[in-house]
Amino acid sequence: MTTININSFVRKNILNLQPYISFRDHNEFKAPVLLDANENPFGECNRYPDSTQKKLKQKLSQVKNIPANQIAIGNGSDELIDLIIKVFCEPKTDSVLMMNPSFAMYGFYAAINENKVVKLNLNDDFDIDKEFFLNIINANQLKIFFLCSPNNPTGNSIEDIEFYIKNFNGIVVVDEAYIEFSQQKSALALLGKYPNLIVLQTFSKAWGKAGARVGVAYASEEIINFINLVKAPYNVNSLSQDLIMKTLENTTEFNQSVKNILTEREWLREEFENLKCINKVYPTDANFFLVDFEDIEKVYENLTSGEILTSKRAPAIPNCIRINIGTRAENEKLINILKNC
Ligand SMILES: Cc1ncc(COP(=O)(O)O)c(C=O)c1O
Repeated sequence: MTTININSFVRKNILNLQPYISFRDHNEFKAPVLLDANENPFGECNRYPDSTQKKLKQKLSQVKNIPANQIAIGNGSDELIDLIIKVFCEPKTDSVLMMNPSFAMYGFYAAINENKVVKLNLNDDFDIDKEFFLNIINANQLKIFFLCSPNNPTGNSIEDIEFYIKNFNGIVVVDEAYIEFSQQKSALALLGKYPNLIVLQTFSKAWGKAGARVGVAYASEEIINFINLVKAPYNVNSLSQDLIMKTLENTTEFNQSVKNILTEREWLREEFENLKCINKVYPTDANFFLVDFEDIEKVYENLTSGEILTSKRAPAIPNCIRINIGTRAENEKLINILKNC
């Protein structure tokens, strides 16, 4: 394991922050009378959720084979991105690095926290040029690198992730929101080796629970303690904690839906090949395609008026629309409109 002093990356005021501790969640009671939190004793969902998300972390610990004290749970991984910036970046002073193009929320939360964003332009294959990366990190003072793989909105996986973790003098967040759709090995296997690594995963994509808002960060115990320190105590509601527990207890639905999406991905890829309006379909390891169209305005207009909502990436990625894989009926509707474009 590489030795680094995580405290040296943490914001000064966070190092001295007093934790908010819910007494009941940090102690064991057999049948407590709960008169401590001004709740209503009647009705359903009347109690505050477990602020430590104990059961869910234990379950995730079993499933992922990672100790529970190396797991933090957020209100979606969106919240975890914000919390990670809050832990490590001094407002108005520190900068974060993100790939370009990549998931916009890294820049959004950096802006809210008044941190500068340095963009690492990807090459023509949407991968990172190592030399360019080394130049950028040498020329800038950077606290966090958000590395998204498979990347949104391009769909491809980044090669040799370990190289970036090893060479970055700061915190590397590997965002694996789409990992379950990919053959790529998860960076979770590198956690024991790199104390500056945080891996983000989510229940919003392959697990099909976007409405529950549950994301997970895996990192060293030290980093996880800082994330827990800055989070709102009751950030994940009881209904969502229960739902995700149930989802993890029976993974049949998960396995089936990933299988269906991968089948649909192949079906769509073949259908796209026969369409005249398409210039290029980028390779994807995720549940969406980035597609380059001959006449993007016409295509986008026809899709929207057919009430098919997609994500237009032009002008940032010229001529491109990101298209999510749907059910067979939805995909057929998409293809039928594209045939007439
Ligand atoms: C790369 C990436 N990370 C994180 C998220 C946010 O996930 P969550 O729903 O867990 O907040 C998304 C959502 O689109 C995403 O594409």
